[in-house]
Amino acid sequence: MAAPRILSGIKPTGRPHLGNYYGMMQPGIEWQDRGEAFYFIADYHAFTTVHDPAALREHTRSVALDFLACGLDPEKAVLFRQSDVPEVTELAWLLTCLTPMPMLENCHAYKDHLAKGKVPSHGLFAYPVLMAADILLYNSNIVPVGRDQKQHVEVTRDLAEKANRLFGPIFTVPQPSIVAEVATVIGLDGQKMSKSYNNTIGLFEEEKVLRKKIMSIVTDSEPVEAAKDPATSSIVALYKLCADASAVALMEDQFRAGGLGYGEFKKRLFEALWEKFAPFRARRAELAADPSVLDAILADGAARARAIALPTMERVRKAMGIR
Ligand code: TYM
Repeated sequence: MAAPRILSGIKPTGRPHLGNYYGMMQPGIEWQDRGEAFYFIADYHAFTTVHDPAALREHTRSVALDFLACGLDPEKAVLFRQSDVPEVTELAWLLTCLTPMPMLENCHAYKDHLAKGKVPSHGLFAYPVLMAADILLYNSNIVPVGRDQKQHVEVTRDLAEKANRLFGPIFTVPQPSIVAEVATVIGLDGQKMSKSYNNTIGLFEEEKVLRKKIMSIVTDSEPVEAAKDPATSSIVALYKLCADASAVALMEDQFRAGGLGYGEFKKRLFEALWEKFAPFRARRAELAADPSVLDAILADGAARARAIALPTMERVRKAMGIR
Protein backbone atom coordinates (compact mmCIF):
# COMPACT_ATOMS: atom_id res chain seq x y z
CA MET A 1 0.00 0.00 0.00
CA ALA A 2 1.24 3.51 -0.79
CA ALA A 3 2.33 5.66 2.19
CA PRO A 4 -0.63 7.61 3.57
CA ARG A 5 -0.84 11.35 3.04
CA ILE A 6 -1.21 13.04 6.43
CA LEU A 7 -2.31 16.65 6.73
CA SER A 8 -3.17 19.06 9.50
CA GLY A 9 -3.17 22.77 10.25
CA ILE A 10 -2.92 25.18 13.13
CA LYS A 11 -4.28 28.71 13.34
CA PRO A 12 -1.76 31.48 14.03
CA THR A 13 -4.04 33.35 16.42
CA GLY A 14 -1.25 33.57 19.04
CA ARG A 15 1.32 31.17 20.43
CA PRO A 16 0.48 27.44 20.64
CA HIS A 17 -0.59 26.00 24.00
CA LEU A 18 -0.39 22.55 25.57
CA GLY A 19 -3.72 21.57 23.95
CA ASN A 20 -2.32 22.31 20.50
CA TYR A 21 0.89 20.49 21.29
CA TYR A 22 -0.50 17.28 22.77
CA GLY A 23 -3.65 17.22 20.62
CA MET A 24 -2.05 17.87 17.24
CA MET A 25 1.61 18.89 17.07
CA GLN A 26 3.10 15.91 18.88
CA PRO A 27 0.93 13.32 17.07
CA GLY A 28 1.67 15.14 13.80
CA ILE A 29 5.40 14.94 14.48
CA GLU A 30 5.06 11.20 15.12
CA TRP A 31 3.20 10.77 11.84
CA GLN A 32 6.06 12.34 9.87
CA ASP A 33 7.89 9.00 10.02
CA ARG A 34 4.89 7.01 8.83
CA GLY A 35 3.79 8.72 5.64
CA GLU A 36 3.91 11.89 3.58
CA ALA A 37 3.07 14.56 6.13
CA PHE A 38 1.85 18.06 5.23
CA TYR A 39 1.39 20.66 7.98
CA PHE A 40 0.41 24.23 7.44
CA ILE A 41 -0.04 27.45 9.34
CA ALA A 42 -3.67 28.36 8.69
CA ASP A 43 -3.44 32.13 8.23
CA TYR A 44 -6.66 32.34 6.18
CA HIS A 45 -8.44 30.68 9.10
CA ALA A 46 -6.82 33.02 11.63
CA PHE A 47 -8.10 35.95 9.57
CA THR A 48 -11.60 35.18 10.88
CA THR A 49 -10.42 36.84 14.10
CA VAL A 50 -6.99 38.50 13.65
CA HIS A 51 -7.38 41.76 11.73
CA ASP A 52 -4.01 43.27 12.56
CA PRO A 53 -1.79 42.57 9.51
CA ALA A 54 1.54 42.86 11.34
CA ALA A 55 0.32 40.53 14.10
CA LEU A 56 -1.02 37.98 11.63
CA ARG A 57 2.27 37.91 9.72
CA GLU A 58 4.27 37.70 12.94
CA HIS A 59 2.11 34.94 14.50
CA THR A 60 2.32 32.92 11.28
CA ARG A 61 6.11 32.87 11.37
CA SER A 62 6.20 32.37 15.09
CA VAL A 63 3.91 29.32 15.08
CA ALA A 64 5.98 27.83 12.24
CA LEU A 65 9.11 28.25 14.40
CA ASP A 66 7.32 26.70 17.38
CA PHE A 67 6.34 23.66 15.32
CA LEU A 68 9.91 23.22 14.04
CA ALA A 69 11.33 23.68 17.54
CA CYS A 70 9.03 20.90 18.82
CA GLY A 71 10.48 18.44 16.29
CA LEU A 72 8.78 18.92 12.94
CA ASP A 73 11.52 17.89 10.52
CA PRO A 74 11.29 19.77 7.21
CA GLU A 75 13.26 16.97 5.53
CA LYS A 76 10.47 14.55 6.37
CA ALA A 77 7.34 16.72 6.50
CA VAL A 78 6.20 19.61 4.35
CA LEU A 79 5.65 22.80 6.38
CA PHE A 80 3.89 25.62 4.58
CA ARG A 81 1.83 28.74 4.96
CA GLN A 82 -1.80 28.17 3.94
CA SER A 83 -1.95 31.42 1.95
CA ASP A 84 1.07 30.41 -0.15
CA VAL A 85 -1.38 28.17 -2.00
CA PRO A 86 -4.30 30.58 -2.60
CA GLU A 87 -6.02 28.00 -4.83
CA VAL A 88 -7.44 26.64 -1.58
CA THR A 89 -9.88 29.55 -1.54
CA GLU A 90 -11.06 28.66 -5.05
CA LEU A 91 -11.72 25.10 -3.94
CA ALA A 92 -13.48 26.43 -0.83
CA TRP A 93 -15.87 28.39 -3.09
CA LEU A 94 -16.64 25.36 -5.22
CA LEU A 95 -17.30 23.28 -2.10
CA THR A 96 -19.39 26.09 -0.58
CA CYS A 97 -21.79 25.70 -3.47
CA LEU A 98 -22.25 22.04 -2.53
CA THR A 99 -22.68 22.68 1.20
CA PRO A 100 -26.18 22.68 2.69
CA MET A 101 -26.59 25.60 5.11
CA PRO A 102 -27.97 23.37 7.91
CA MET A 103 -24.74 21.39 7.90
CA LEU A 104 -22.83 24.55 8.84
CA GLU A 105 -25.55 25.79 11.19
CA ASN A 106 -24.92 22.62 13.15
CA CYS A 107 -21.17 23.22 13.56
CA HIS A 108 -20.08 23.97 17.10
CA ALA A 109 -17.84 27.02 16.56
CA TYR A 110 -20.74 28.83 14.92
CA LYS A 111 -23.21 27.65 17.54
CA ASP A 112 -20.88 28.72 20.40
CA HIS A 113 -20.58 32.15 18.83
CA LEU A 114 -24.35 32.53 18.64
CA ALA A 115 -24.76 31.22 22.18
CA LYS A 116 -22.42 33.96 23.42
CA GLY A 117 -24.61 36.54 21.72
CA LYS A 118 -21.89 37.45 19.20
CA VAL A 119 -22.56 38.14 15.53
CA PRO A 120 -20.56 35.60 13.51
CA SER A 121 -18.93 36.69 10.26
CA HIS A 122 -19.66 34.77 7.11
CA GLY A 123 -16.03 33.59 7.32
CA LEU A 124 -16.61 32.02 10.71
CA PHE A 125 -19.79 30.39 9.44
CA ALA A 126 -18.07 28.99 6.33
CA TYR A 127 -14.87 28.05 8.20
CA PRO A 128 -15.49 24.26 8.02
CA VAL A 129 -15.73 24.49 4.23
CA LEU A 130 -12.32 26.16 3.99
CA MET A 131 -11.02 23.39 6.22
CA ALA A 132 -12.53 20.79 3.89
CA ALA A 133 -10.77 22.53 1.00
CA ASP A 134 -7.45 22.31 2.88
CA ILE A 135 -7.87 18.61 3.38
CA LEU A 136 -9.20 17.70 -0.08
CA LEU A 137 -6.77 19.89 -2.04
CA TYR A 138 -3.90 17.70 -0.87
CA ASN A 139 -5.66 14.33 -1.32
CA SER A 140 -5.18 13.66 2.37
CA ASN A 141 -5.93 10.26 3.92
CA ILE A 142 -5.34 11.05 7.58
CA VAL A 143 -5.96 14.23 9.56
CA PRO A 144 -4.40 14.28 13.06
CA VAL A 145 -6.46 16.66 15.23
CA GLY A 146 -7.85 17.18 18.72
CA ARG A 147 -11.44 16.17 19.42
CA ASP A 148 -12.79 19.70 18.78
CA GLN A 149 -11.96 19.32 15.07
CA LYS A 150 -13.64 15.94 14.57
CA GLN A 151 -16.90 17.48 13.42
CA HIS A 152 -15.05 19.47 10.76
CA VAL A 153 -13.41 16.34 9.38
CA GLU A 154 -16.89 14.78 9.22
CA VAL A 155 -18.10 17.78 7.18
CA THR A 156 -15.11 17.22 4.91
CA ARG A 157 -16.00 13.56 4.44
CA ASP A 158 -19.62 14.42 3.61
CA LEU A 159 -18.58 17.04 1.07
CA ALA A 160 -16.01 14.74 -0.55
CA GLU A 161 -18.57 11.95 -0.87
CA LYS A 162 -21.15 14.30 -2.31
CA ALA A 163 -18.70 15.74 -4.86
CA ASN A 164 -17.58 12.24 -5.83
CA ARG A 165 -21.21 11.22 -6.42
CA LEU A 166 -21.87 14.27 -8.56
CA PHE A 167 -18.62 14.57 -10.52
CA GLY A 168 -16.87 11.20 -10.34
CA PRO A 169 -14.05 10.16 -8.01
CA ILE A 170 -12.20 13.47 -7.69
CA PHE A 171 -11.55 13.49 -3.95
CA THR A 172 -9.92 11.19 -1.41
CA VAL A 173 -12.24 10.72 1.57
CA PRO A 174 -10.11 11.42 4.70
CA GLN A 175 -10.24 10.05 8.22
CA PRO A 176 -9.52 11.93 11.44
CA SER A 177 -6.81 10.57 13.72
CA ILE A 178 -7.48 11.49 17.34
CA VAL A 179 -5.28 10.25 20.18
CA ALA A 180 -7.76 9.33 22.93
CA GLU A 181 -5.64 10.34 25.95
CA VAL A 182 -4.97 13.84 24.64
CA ALA A 183 -8.13 14.44 22.59
CA THR A 184 -9.14 17.24 24.95
CA VAL A 185 -6.39 18.74 27.07
CA ILE A 186 -7.91 20.74 29.93
CA GLY A 187 -6.92 24.24 30.91
CA LEU A 188 -6.25 26.13 34.14
CA ASP A 189 -9.94 26.25 35.04
CA GLY A 190 -10.74 22.61 34.27
CA GLN A 191 -12.51 23.39 30.96
CA LYS A 192 -11.01 22.49 27.55
CA MET A 193 -7.78 24.45 27.08
CA SER A 194 -8.54 27.15 24.55
CA LYS A 195 -7.44 30.70 23.80
CA SER A 196 -11.06 31.75 23.77
CA TYR A 197 -11.47 30.62 27.40
CA ASN A 198 -8.30 32.40 28.48
CA ASN A 199 -7.14 29.30 30.36
CA THR A 200 -4.09 28.27 28.35
CA ILE A 201 -0.56 27.27 29.23
CA GLY A 202 1.76 28.21 26.36
CA LEU A 203 4.56 25.92 25.23
CA PHE A 204 7.16 28.63 25.43
CA GLU A 205 6.08 30.65 28.45
CA GLU A 206 8.69 32.59 30.42
CA GLU A 207 9.66 30.70 33.59
CA LYS A 208 7.93 33.15 35.92
CA VAL A 209 4.75 33.25 33.86
CA LEU A 210 4.62 29.46 33.65
CA ARG A 211 5.07 29.12 37.41
CA LYS A 212 2.36 31.70 38.07
CA LYS A 213 -0.05 30.02 35.67
CA ILE A 214 0.48 26.58 37.20
CA MET A 215 0.02 27.98 40.69
CA SER A 216 -3.31 29.46 39.51
CA ILE A 217 -4.78 26.08 38.47
CA VAL A 218 -8.21 25.92 40.04
CA THR A 219 -8.55 23.28 42.80
CA ASP A 220 -11.16 22.47 45.43
CA SER A 221 -10.65 23.63 49.02
CA GLU A 222 -9.76 20.29 50.61
CA PRO A 223 -7.37 20.78 53.56
CA VAL A 224 -3.78 19.50 53.30
CA GLU A 225 -4.46 16.40 55.42
CA ALA A 226 -7.52 15.27 53.44
CA ALA A 227 -7.38 12.40 50.95
CA LYS A 228 -7.87 13.79 47.43
CA ASP A 229 -9.22 12.24 44.27
CA PRO A 230 -6.56 12.17 41.53
CA ALA A 231 -9.14 11.23 38.87
CA THR A 232 -10.84 14.62 39.03
CA SER A 233 -7.74 16.78 39.41
CA SER A 234 -6.53 19.08 36.63
CA ILE A 235 -3.05 18.95 38.17
CA VAL A 236 -2.87 15.17 37.73
CA ALA A 237 -4.39 15.36 34.24
CA LEU A 238 -1.71 17.81 33.11
CA TYR A 239 1.05 15.94 34.95
CA LYS A 240 0.15 12.78 33.04
CA LEU A 241 1.01 14.57 29.81
CA CYS A 242 4.54 15.48 30.75
CA ALA A 243 5.79 13.19 33.55
CA ASP A 244 6.81 9.55 33.37
CA ALA A 245 4.50 6.79 34.56
CA SER A 246 6.25 6.20 37.92
CA ALA A 247 6.14 9.91 38.83
CA VAL A 248 2.44 10.00 37.95
CA ALA A 249 1.74 6.87 40.04
CA LEU A 250 3.53 8.45 43.00
CA MET A 251 1.49 11.64 42.70
CA GLU A 252 -1.74 9.66 42.47
CA ASP A 253 -0.83 7.65 45.59
CA GLN A 254 0.03 10.81 47.48
CA PHE A 255 -3.29 12.38 46.45
CA ARG A 256 -5.15 9.41 47.87
CA ALA A 257 -3.05 9.27 51.05
CA GLY A 258 -3.59 12.94 51.99
CA GLY A 259 -1.00 14.97 53.89
CA LEU A 260 0.28 17.04 50.96
CA GLY A 261 -1.30 20.27 49.70
CA TYR A 262 -2.08 21.19 46.10
CA GLY A 263 0.80 23.71 46.12
CA GLU A 264 3.33 20.88 46.38
CA PHE A 265 1.75 19.00 43.45
CA LYS A 266 1.65 22.18 41.37
CA LYS A 267 5.37 22.71 41.98
CA ARG A 268 6.04 19.21 40.67
CA LEU A 269 3.90 19.87 37.60
CA PHE A 270 5.78 23.11 36.94
CA GLU A 271 9.13 21.31 37.12
CA ALA A 272 8.02 18.52 34.80
CA LEU A 273 6.70 20.95 32.18
CA TRP A 274 9.69 23.25 32.41
CA GLU A 275 12.03 20.31 31.90
CA LYS A 276 9.98 18.69 29.14
CA PHE A 277 10.07 21.82 26.98
CA ALA A 278 13.70 22.81 27.75
CA PRO A 279 15.16 21.20 24.58
CA PHE A 280 12.41 22.80 22.48
CA ARG A 281 13.21 26.23 23.94
CA ALA A 282 16.87 25.78 23.06
CA ARG A 283 16.07 24.68 19.51
CA ARG A 284 13.65 27.55 19.04
CA ALA A 285 16.27 30.10 20.08
CA GLU A 286 18.69 28.65 17.52
CA LEU A 287 16.09 28.70 14.74
CA ALA A 288 14.95 32.22 15.54
CA ALA A 289 18.52 33.55 15.35
CA ASP A 290 18.54 33.40 11.54
CA PRO A 291 15.18 34.29 9.92
CA SER A 292 16.45 33.17 6.51
CA VAL A 293 16.29 29.55 7.70
CA LEU A 294 12.52 29.78 8.22
CA ASP A 295 12.10 31.70 4.94
CA ALA A 296 13.82 28.85 3.08
CA ILE A 297 11.78 26.14 4.85
CA LEU A 298 8.49 27.92 4.08
CA ALA A 299 9.47 28.57 0.45
CA ASP A 300 10.36 24.92 -0.04
CA GLY A 301 7.14 23.86 1.72
CA ALA A 302 5.07 26.14 -0.52
CA ALA A 303 6.64 24.64 -3.64
CA ARG A 304 6.01 21.07 -2.46
CA ALA A 305 2.43 21.90 -1.45
CA ARG A 306 1.72 23.58 -4.80
CA ALA A 307 3.03 20.54 -6.65
CA ILE A 308 0.11 18.56 -5.17
CA ALA A 309 -2.50 21.32 -5.11
CA LEU A 310 -2.30 22.56 -8.69
CA PRO A 311 -2.98 19.20 -10.37
CA THR A 312 -5.87 18.63 -7.92
CA MET A 313 -7.40 21.96 -8.95
CA GLU A 314 -7.00 21.14 -12.65
CA ARG A 315 -8.81 17.86 -12.10
CA VAL A 316 -11.55 19.49 -10.02
CA ARG A 317 -12.16 22.37 -12.45
CA LYS A 318 -12.36 19.96 -15.36
CA ALA A 319 -14.76 17.64 -13.54
CA MET A 320 -16.98 20.52 -12.38
CA GLY A 321 -17.13 22.35 -15.72
CA ILE A 322 -15.16 25.40 -14.67
CA ARG A 323 -12.98 26.81 -17.55
P1 TYM B 1 -6.50 25.21 16.10
O1 TYM B 1 -5.48 26.18 15.66
O2 TYM B 1 -7.63 25.72 16.95
O3 TYM B 1 -5.83 24.04 16.89
C1 TYM B 1 -4.79 23.29 16.34
C2 TYM B 1 -4.91 21.85 16.79
O4 TYM B 1 -4.86 21.78 18.22
C3 TYM B 1 -5.93 20.97 18.68
N1 TYM B 1 -6.36 21.46 20.01
C4 TYM B 1 -6.53 20.65 21.07
N2 TYM B 1 -6.34 19.33 21.21
C5 TYM B 1 -6.59 18.81 22.45
N3 TYM B 1 -6.97 19.56 23.51
C6 TYM B 1 -7.17 20.90 23.41
N4 TYM B 1 -7.53 21.61 24.46
C7 TYM B 1 -6.96 21.49 22.13
N5 TYM B 1 -7.04 22.77 21.66
C8 TYM B 1 -6.68 22.72 20.36
C9 TYM B 1 -7.04 21.17 17.67
O5 TYM B 1 -7.97 20.10 17.72
C10 TYM B 1 -6.25 21.21 16.38
O6 TYM B 1 -6.03 19.91 15.88
N6 TYM B 1 -9.46 24.49 12.19
C11 TYM B 1 -8.20 24.10 12.77
C12 TYM B 1 -7.02 24.40 11.87
C13 TYM B 1 -7.19 23.84 10.50
C14 TYM B 1 -7.08 22.46 10.14
C15 TYM B 1 -7.32 22.44 8.72
C16 TYM B 1 -6.83 21.29 10.83
C17 TYM B 1 -7.47 24.55 9.39
N7 TYM B 1 -7.54 23.72 8.30
C18 TYM B 1 -7.29 21.24 8.02
C19 TYM B 1 -6.80 20.08 10.11
C20 TYM B 1 -7.04 20.06 8.71
C21 TYM B 1 -8.04 24.85 14.07
O7 TYM B 1 -8.70 25.84 14.31
O8 TYM B 1 -7.08 24.41 14.84
